[in-house]
Amino acid sequence: MKDHDGRFVILTGAAGTIGRATARQLIDDGHFVIGVDLDGDRLEEMGAQIEERFLPLAADLGSEDGIIECCKRIRRDYGPVRILINNAGIISTDKFLQTSLADLRRTMAINFESAFLMSQQLLPGMIDACEGRVINVSSFAGRSGGLLAGTAYSLSKTAVIGLTFALAREFGPRGVSTNAIAPAFVRSDMMRSAFKAPGDEQNLTASIPLKRLCDPEEVASAITYLASDLAGFINGEVIDINGGIQCD
Ligand SMILES: NC(=O)c1ccc[n+]([C@@H]2O[C@H](COP(=O)([O-])OP(=O)(O)OC[C@H]3O[C@@H](n4cnc5c(N)ncnc54)[C@H](O)[C@@H]3O)[C@@H](O)[C@H]2O)c1
Repeated sequence: MKDHDGRFVILTGAAGTIGRATARQLIDDGHFVIGVDLDGDRLEEMGAQIEERFLPLAADLGSEDGIIECCKRIRRDYGPVRILINNAGIISTDKFLQTSLADLRRTMAINFESAFLMSQQLLPGMIDACEGRVINVSSFAGRSGGLLAGTAYSLSKTAVIGLTFALAREFGPRGVSTNAIAPAFVRSDMMRSAFKAPGDEQNLTASIPLKRLCDPEEVASAITYLASDLAGFINGEVIDINGGIQCD
């Protein structure tokens, strides 16, 4: 596998809605995708459906041990990687007064700490090569405090943006760029789980200037662009994909 060095992309949350769309587009763009997810069965299905350019790796990114073990396997089986996409995440819809410490910790662990630890594990290989990309999947909730999303989720996604800025500043001089995307309202199970009352979806759609939800492929194309050679001068950017619900 070492002869594919440089074309490997680590994509966490690869078995999810945005992950699946992203894996397809990255493969179409010539990458080999190491898809990391808790859902090993779904990863295997994807491996069978997509082609040999998709390499499934089941792992629990909710624990430090799980992440360290996962990154050890990546380095052992594929060598240093140049592109890391931190996309795994969970939703939490409880607002501040209802948010338990356990929910906050779990949400931070998967949405933020996994991005922090995966980056910490895999950046040294990029620094050695003087070349690398980290792409973090934040959320509109991390920019806005969250409309349907809960407080723990919003906080975790704001932390992802802070991590993006810190890595961009610290490792830009070492050849590694870091960027984020901040999508909103993507047609997905995660989005549907945030609709609590009948009419929530219609009310939300009416409030978005483009009057529709976002397709997962529209998020995947922004990620694939950030991974592409010609996005090389973008560093420390957060790309909003929100239909204009927040203009800046
Ligand atoms: N769907 C949206 O509207 C939306 C909007 C903004 C941001 N996002 C973000 O986009 C990313 C992908 O979301 P999605 O809509 O595809 O959701 P999804 O639930 O379909 O995908 C998330 C994936 O992460 C995986 N995952 C969860 N916990 C894990 C763990 N402990 N270890 C390894 N993998 C784990 C899940 O198995 C799943 O495959 C998330 O970070 C989410 O917060 C989604």
